[in-house]
Amino acid sequence: MSDPERRARWNERWTRRDYADTEPAAVVHDYAYLLPPGGEVLEVACGLGVNALHLAAAGFRVTAWDYAETAIARLEEEALSRGLVLTAEVRDVVAAPPAPASFDAIIVTRFLERELCPALAAALRPGGVLCYQSFVRDAASDRGPQDAAFRFAPNELLRLFPDLRVLVFHDEGRAGDTAQGFRDESLLVAQRAE
Ligand SMILES: C[S@@+](CC[C@H](N)C(=O)[O-])C[C@H]1O[C@@H](n2cnc3c(N)ncnc32)[C@H](O)[C@@H]1O
Repeated sequence: MSDPERRARWNERWTRRDYADTEPAAVVHDYAYLLPPGGEVLEVACGLGVNALHLAAAGFRVTAWDYAETAIARLEEEALSRGLVLTAEVRDVVAAPPAPASFDAIIVTRFLERELCPALAAALRPGGVLCYQSFVRDAASDRGPQDAAFRFAPNELLRLFPDLRVLVFHDEGRAGDTAQGFRDESLLVAQRAE
């Protein structure tokens, strides 16, 4: 599938999705306390911006980017209806990545563009924190993208950010009792040196 086709598919998908059926990703819900309090947070490839809304409600100054116009339009409406302030922008994050040292925290969930990772690490200010969660090849269910290229290999998420200090990392694969634990996705919270 070409990139314009993929983008059109996301635009169509985000028209149909209901906010009532969404919740913030675990990496945001469980670990927002590790972010610099009140800091400037960027969510890339935000979709409907459920993580962005959660963080705006928690007092962070939030910017959210996605290249799907429908997602950004819906996020702006939803923020307004909840009385939240955030900046939402239609932006191709691969073509126009964030500037170096421009955010206190960066959030990425269920999105993988490997060539963007060095720019994401560089976009953190000193002491800034990356929260990343996305699907793995070594999954316990069939949730997530069918194309293995859009899934992390074992430990790959760690290797993509070699210069950050690891605060939290989960990559449980299919070890042990797969009915328990954090499965199907890998999760990293990592900090740039002060
Ligand atoms: C699986 S969704 C994840 C959305 C959100 N992060 C979440 O976890 O619900 C992937 C998102 O990436 C966006 N996307 C894909 N390529 C992109 C790009 N180059 N620039 C910006 N957004 C992109 C899509 O529009 C879609 O909203």
